[in-house]
Amino acid sequence: MKHKILKITYFCMLVACGLGQNTAIAQQKNESDQYRPAFHFTPKSHWMNDPNGMVYLNGKYHLFYQHNPNSSVWGPMHWGHATSTDLDHWDHQPIALYPDSLGTIFSGSAVVDVNNTAGFGKNALVAIFTHHNHKIEEAKTGLHQYQSIAYSIDEGKTWTKYEGNPVLPNPGIWDFRDPKVMWHTQSKKWIMTLATKDRITFYSSPNLKNWTKESEFGEKSGAHGGVWECPDLFPLSVNGIQKWVLLVSINPGGPAGGSGTQYFVGDFKEGIFSADHTDIRWLDYGADNYAGVTWSNTGNRKIFMGWMNNWTYANQIPEQGFRGATTIARELQLKKVGNEVYLSAAPVKEFNLILDKAAQLKYSAAKTDYDLSTKVTSFKGKYQLELTTAQKQSFSLRLTNDNGDELVLGYDAKNNTFYTDRTKSGQVDFEKSFPRVTTAPRISKDNHIQLKLILDVTSAEVFADNGLTVMTNTFFAHSPLTQLHIKSTKPLLIQNLKYAGIKSL
Ligand code: FRU
Repeated sequence: MKHKILKITYFCMLVACGLGQNTAIAQQKNESDQYRPAFHFTPKSHWMNDPNGMVYLNGKYHLFYQHNPNSSVWGPMHWGHATSTDLDHWDHQPIALYPDSLGTIFSGSAVVDVNNTAGFGKNALVAIFTHHNHKIEEAKTGLHQYQSIAYSIDEGKTWTKYEGNPVLPNPGIWDFRDPKVMWHTQSKKWIMTLATKDRITFYSSPNLKNWTKESEFGEKSGAHGGVWECPDLFPLSVNGIQKWVLLVSINPGGPAGGSGTQYFVGDFKEGIFSADHTDIRWLDYGADNYAGVTWSNTGNRKIFMGWMNNWTYANQIPEQGFRGATTIARELQLKKVGNEVYLSAAPVKEFNLILDKAAQLKYSAAKTDYDLSTKVTSFKGKYQLELTTAQKQSFSLRLTNDNGDELVLGYDAKNNTFYTDRTKSGQVDFEKSFPRVTTAPRISKDNHIQLKLILDVTSAEVFADNGLTVMTNTFFAHSPLTQLHIKSTKPLLIQNLKYAGIKSL
């Protein structure tokens, strides 16, 4: 009898446990997946911030990233790793770099050492990164950041740290980090662009191991509302003339509050960078594009990716099980508007490969309300929309759901600005500055306004005028924003409207 009762109890326990477990799994899945972007890169689990070491080799784009594999908040940094052949689909790879006795692994870059300058092997991948020593930082007994290298001779699968690390000791600057290295063909040397507190310091090296200071830039240029971080220097041509672009992330002091990325267009001669302009220029006017840099070894093409987040609330965003994502990959180009040269950023052409069920609408009469809900509802809040207006006139895209959430973005003719309003976009109260309207100046002088929106579960990336004005903002709606109206107070003619869903990856 006793035996039977035990058996029944055991059976009940199994059932109960099983059910309980399934419910727990279901809940976990629900919670963790509600805000997982569908086509942006995210870590499998836990925390990510800056993209690092982006390098192209033998048909593969490598993406490393600041990663805390033990928690969904920032902590001891590792370099996570993923690879892609098309910049759309990412395969997770084992962690590439772990903390060691010199410190945790902060941001940096990677290069292909085509000529074996470092002696690790022809075409070895060499990562150049900041070692960040928490023990020194906490004890405040010295300088906690210095630059080190690691190499891989199996295309990024395994990494060996160089025994002579650090290769660039700290000269006495507390914030001394985020090396971005490129091969400078003119001088036949490596150039390291390093964030050094409130300016950039350039170093050169014949072999990635011995570094010589060349110059500094920026103490009196650009925005200085916060510390300078994650720079990048690269050449780009405009109308057949080669210019140099310097990207500098800054936190706080960005255009939408908190983190942001400014850029300078100028020249880089004999180890010295000089800017052609004195005005402050932002790569992206939204709140959520930080620490982005470009891929190495992609020839004349400059492909950029940023961390789609902002340090103001990065540790609080309501994602569960993972935290953080990148922007989609963007191609950077220089464009002339009047006498000025601006940096534009537009989705890479490979992004078109994941568009699905593309359709086009042409209108001949102006309207004050284009109800597009029936067109986009089935995309469940994940789509691309592109429009061109006949006039330079105010309009707004209103993205809503049945929960009363709304994300509004558009063009304001009076101020000649684009904007994104996420004040009522869903969960906004996890940090006080999150519910905000971000604005961006219009750079283009064209009479037609062209706007491309790429919408994912938690992000709206707006590319206006073919990427001359860019705004990236995250949001956390209670359910997908499946309804869409384009509205204007005066009748507006949309000449051309294209939309497409996104294939599941
Ligand atoms: C930028 C940054 C870098 C640093 C890294 C640490 O977001 O602060 O300057 O290397 O993140 O995770």
